[in-house]
Amino acid sequence: MEAVTTTKVPGTRKLFSGKVRDVYKVDDEHLIIVSTDRVSAFDWVFPNGIPGKGIILNTISNLWFKNIKIINNHIVETNYKNFPKPFCDYPEFFQDRAVMVKKAKRIDFECVARGYIIGSGWKDYQKTGKVCGIELPKGLQLASELPYPIFTPATKAASGHDENITIEEMKKALGTDIAEKLAQVSLDLYDFARDKLIKAGIILADTKFEFGFSEKEIILIDEVLTPDSSRFWDAALYKPGISPVSLDKQFIRDYLETTTWDKNSPPPPLPDEIIQKTKEKYEDILQRIKHILG
Ligand SMILES: Nc1ncnc2c1ncn2[C@@H]1O[C@H](COP(=O)(O)OP(=O)(O)OP(=O)(O)O)[C@@H](O)[C@H]1O
Ligand SMILES: [Mg+2]
Repeated sequence: MEAVTTTKVPGTRKLFSGKVRDVYKVDDEHLIIVSTDRVSAFDWVFPNGIPGKGIILNTISNLWFKNIKIINNHIVETNYKNFPKPFCDYPEFFQDRAVMVKKAKRIDFECVARGYIIGSGWKDYQKTGKVCGIELPKGLQLASELPYPIFTPATKAASGHDENITIEEMKKALGTDIAEKLAQVSLDLYDFARDKLIKAGIILADTKFEFGFSEKEIILIDEVLTPDSSRFWDAALYKPGISPVSLDKQFIRDYLETTTWDKNSPPPPLPDEIIQKTKEKYEDILQRIKHILG
């Protein structure tokens, strides 16, 4: 199988090409979101992709969308054959890796829920003892479980890095009711997913949700609970104080640390062996999630 790293459909409008996904306009109310096989690390996209990775990510996201009853979501159609023309004529781009969705008015915040302290949360905690204004107990170690899951919103920076903010800042921008609702739903979703994933031997360290308005209703959009939007840790290997073995592309990051690439210039292709190994990681996660969500 060849990696799908670019998509092109004559006579249509590609609105956006992210690091991983391409977004097409269908009409004023609908989009098609394609998960390609592109792979990124340290904010760079590699010249070669991981064959089938996009299919796996799309499948995982769709499984969650189907099982989440806490909030409605943007999915309209998951079978490319039912996409309007000309999209349905391009299985090479859309089969198993694309969804047609309701176009929402995106709420421009990343809604992050964390049950463990790692990444930017760990950095903030070390500096201030807080994450997003939330005071945390003293003496937490890297990757410690938090006493309870916390909501840690971030700005959605158009370019560059997202910045953690307090819920108060979010309330100022969106109003108290909406900010509180997003916090509650994010934490409910985190609880739901954490309890499921642990049955598959996966610790959900943290995860990011995006929401949008469809008419007056707030719905869940984008991707959900994938290894791209979440940190999945192998429960069997978890130990606070050490950087947990991640089930997804931590593997690629670790490999890159052994190379001479400076992370400030276009990266060289990933070697076949790393591509293969990473593909196996994604496959494994999918199988585990299929097992718990059917
Ligand atoms: N239902 C929806 N309505 C409107 N916009 C959406 C919807 N679902 C997802 N999006 C937006 O579509 C884009 C999906 O692309 P993608 O995830 O690749 O971009 P990104 O997250 O901005 O960048 P990257 O993932 O490369 O860091 C995002 O900007 C996301 O917010
Ligand atoms: Mg994204």
